[in-house]
Amino acid sequence: MGSHVHWDRKLDGRLARALMSIPAIKAVEIGDGWLAARRFGSEVHDPISLGGGALVRSSNRAGGLEGGITNGEPLVCRLAMKPLATVPAALPSVDLAKLAATPAHVERSDTCAVPAAGVIAESILALTLADALLEALGGDTMAGLRLPVARLRLSTRTSLGHIFLIGPMGSGKTSAGLALARQLNRPFADLDGRIEAKAGVSIAQIFQRTGEQSFRDLEAKTLAEAAGEPPAVIALGGGAIQNETAWRLMRRSGITLALRAPPEESIRRIRSSDRPIEARPLLAGGDPVEALRKLSATRERYYARADLDLDTEGLDAEAVAAAAVGLIDAVKGSLTDRSAEGPGGSAAPEGEA
Ligand code: S3P
Repeated sequence: MGSHVHWDRKLDGRLARALMSIPAIKAVEIGDGWLAARRFGSEVHDPISLGGGALVRSSNRAGGLEGGITNGEPLVCRLAMKPLATVPAALPSVDLAKLAATPAHVERSDTCAVPAAGVIAESILALTLADALLEALGGDTMAGLRLPVARLRLSTRTSLGHIFLIGPMGSGKTSAGLALARQLNRPFADLDGRIEAKAGVSIAQIFQRTGEQSFRDLEAKTLAEAAGEPPAVIALGGGAIQNETAWRLMRRSGITLALRAPPEESIRRIRSSDRPIEARPLLAGGDPVEALRKLSATRERYYARADLDLDTEGLDAEAVAAAAVGLIDAVKGSLTDRSAEGPGGSAAPEGEA
């Protein structure tokens, strides 16, 4: 995002302007900022290499911005805020009526506004980036932006990697995942199934014996193991998306597809599945439709991060898989194609580029 051509569209300039407009902010630096001024040219680069089918950098001295354009690394802006001017000890001043020196009026004294300024800075930064994103990709709805954003993200990769299926319980991750893996001729990994096989007990028993957190730890470990295997379709449990490590892993090693379904339909599917309501500790006791609705609402902010998104209402597993193939084809074209370079080049390992 941004531009190297137009001075007024360079993103570093726009961010600096927006961030400097916050009261009491006296300096803005991007990446190494002031430190870079003391370094040699050879010490301010962020070399590019290939890692896990993606272009990666070994450092981020530029703070994610080069030539006025984001480069895919984390965007790092630091702000210097001066202490608030309302001090309890009166400053020397001048009485304009008498034209004589006099101590300034003391109104009150603030303490520290840095935490508040941090919130404001994150918001103004997000708004500036949202403007730049809309300029780059167009679109005026979040739904309309999803596909172009996924294409943009994949454009720095040489292969698709894993397809991670996420979504609430009963959204069809396992059944559609199996069908999708068959249609794409890839392996399929169901993380819940792997956890149960490894632990030798059911998920309900894990919850009962060692508590939810120990299940979440197993979930994270199993995800990391599966992500290290050759490209597959990987179905996650409904709650596995609630930690940032999982997201970093999924972003680095594949694309995410969120499946959705109305809670009533999800519960109907669960009742006829081989892991019924009783086997799902977070739905047990009370009204399962309500429990699922509540759970889904608190997790929506995670599901909403997915690269792709599919409403599975009224669809069977094969139809969901076919629709998923269509979505994947729509983003695949943006992969960096270096397959012609042969083994010495950066060809996609599974020939998907
Ligand atoms: C859970 C969802 C389940 C399973 C566990 C917890 C959740 O997986 O991991 O019961 O927290 O939503 P499915 O979504 O595959 O049913």
